[in-house]
Amino acid sequence: MIIVIDFGSQFNQLIARRVRENNVYCQVEPSNISVSRIKELNPQGIILSGGPSSIYEEDSPKIDKSIFDLGVPILGICYGMHFMVHTLGGKIKKATKREYGFASLDIKEPAPLFKDMETGFQCWMSHGDSAIKLPENFVITASTQNTAIAAIANHEKKFYGLQFHPEVEHSKNGTLMIRHFLFDVCKCRENWNMKSFCDGAISQIKEAVGDKKVIMGLSGGVDSSVAATLIHKAIGKNLFCIFVDNGLLRKGEKEGLEKNLTAGLDLNIKFVNAKENFLTALEGVTDPEKKRKIIGNLFIDVFDAQANKIDGAEFLGQGTLYPDIIESKSAFGGPTSIIKSHHNVGGLPEKMKLKLIEPLQLLFKDEVRKLGLELGINEDLVWRQPFPGPGLAIRIMGKITASRLEILRDADAILLEEIKEAGLYRKLWQSFAVLLPIKSVGVMGDKRTFANCIAIRAVTSNDAMTADWAKLPHDLLGKISNRIINEVENINRVVFDITSKPPGTIEWE
Ligand code: XMP
Repeated sequence: MIIVIDFGSQFNQLIARRVRENNVYCQVEPSNISVSRIKELNPQGIILSGGPSSIYEEDSPKIDKSIFDLGVPILGICYGMHFMVHTLGGKIKKATKREYGFASLDIKEPAPLFKDMETGFQCWMSHGDSAIKLPENFVITASTQNTAIAAIANHEKKFYGLQFHPEVEHSKNGTLMIRHFLFDVCKCRENWNMKSFCDGAISQIKEAVGDKKVIMGLSGGVDSSVAATLIHKAIGKNLFCIFVDNGLLRKGEKEGLEKNLTAGLDLNIKFVNAKENFLTALEGVTDPEKKRKIIGNLFIDVFDAQANKIDGAEFLGQGTLYPDIIESKSAFGGPTSIIKSHHNVGGLPEKMKLKLIEPLQLLFKDEVRKLGLELGINEDLVWRQPFPGPGLAIRIMGKITASRLEILRDADAILLEEIKEAGLYRKLWQSFAVLLPIKSVGVMGDKRTFANCIAIRAVTSNDAMTADWAKLPHDLLGKISNRIINEVENINRVVFDITSKPPGTIEWE
């Protein structure tokens, strides 16, 4: 396995993914991890990530320098390389200006990372400081026009440094360099795959839970469905799932879940109809954050009441993913600034005093999808686009009523049907309809209308932290608009949202 030390780079998850894409297991750890813990983990290699700090800043992140005495190969990227150079006796120069963007990399001397590469290819730079003097026994292995020390090596100790970012797509040969580090330098083996993960996770859950009961909330999304299926494979009937229908779901959502998840699985799901409670609690509320709070608190109450009916449960299953774990670890130890606020509704009610079972906590989203397929979960569910916990409540601008929910549900169902029909569903991060709080004038037949307006929102994204508005084909937009106006009562206008994130957010509220 490989350890990535988190020095605060926005790319450190990407580094971990690049490693895992090579079927090598990899863990991201905060820079305050102790060297004894690293020894325990027994990595075959360590990658020091980049980061926004300058090595000379007082509170810049540092890791115990005895990491360099472990006899383990180390790759330092950007700030990680500066840390290596500075700690081992070289010199870093504070930048007067940042170098940002592409540069052509000239290989100066053969190095295992550059095996089979021709000199003069594009690499992606994003740095302020740079190395100006190397520590003993290091050599320069590559330069760019502006950066003499763009790559370094201490061949004997197997320490390597790259000033550029091999993990980003724009760095040509970057993934190959990471491959060479893993297999030629660290001698890793390709033994991380979903089949082995699945078998290991099932036996771990069996061991941890024994014959005790596990309660789990299902949202209808990929993560909780995959986690529940995995737990079910381990403990069968001792898993008790609760699905709260808050009345804010999309058309056919509950039925879809019933069909997709229970098929052939014999999963124990209690469907709780709490539509009225939610609608009543939301009556007259227009403020988005108030909506979220009301929905979140009520969810916990309803869930808790149901969970209390299950006698002797000791565990709560959750579909927490690795990025959430990395982020919360960072919040306590590492320096990654928290860019995304945590949205998940229905955090563990403290009073329930249950132990957590989070079988997906080592996986990235794409790995969860692979695992879902491995577990035989229906493809429609595995590839479902994310849907927010507060559901349609934050897609109806202003007051939420049963009739406005109905309008939005119908419009949204048409939009999704057309997106799927056009083969775009999996290519988009999210695509949905928003019901606006305005009416506008139209003409239908010979009659003047004064009716509601729907906005179409469709974005591409990798992680929802940033997103681009999707360039949907005009004829598709036309078809969606026609169908919504013709088939949904009380809609006479459809608009298309062309805002990226930032400055917009994906949801409208
Ligand atoms: P924004 O709108 O902040 O959304 O760009 C980023 C991602 O988070 C989802 N989202 C939520 N998910 N509860 C959730 O479970 C929420 O309150 C919430 N708000 C936004 C959104 O759908 C997108 O995927």
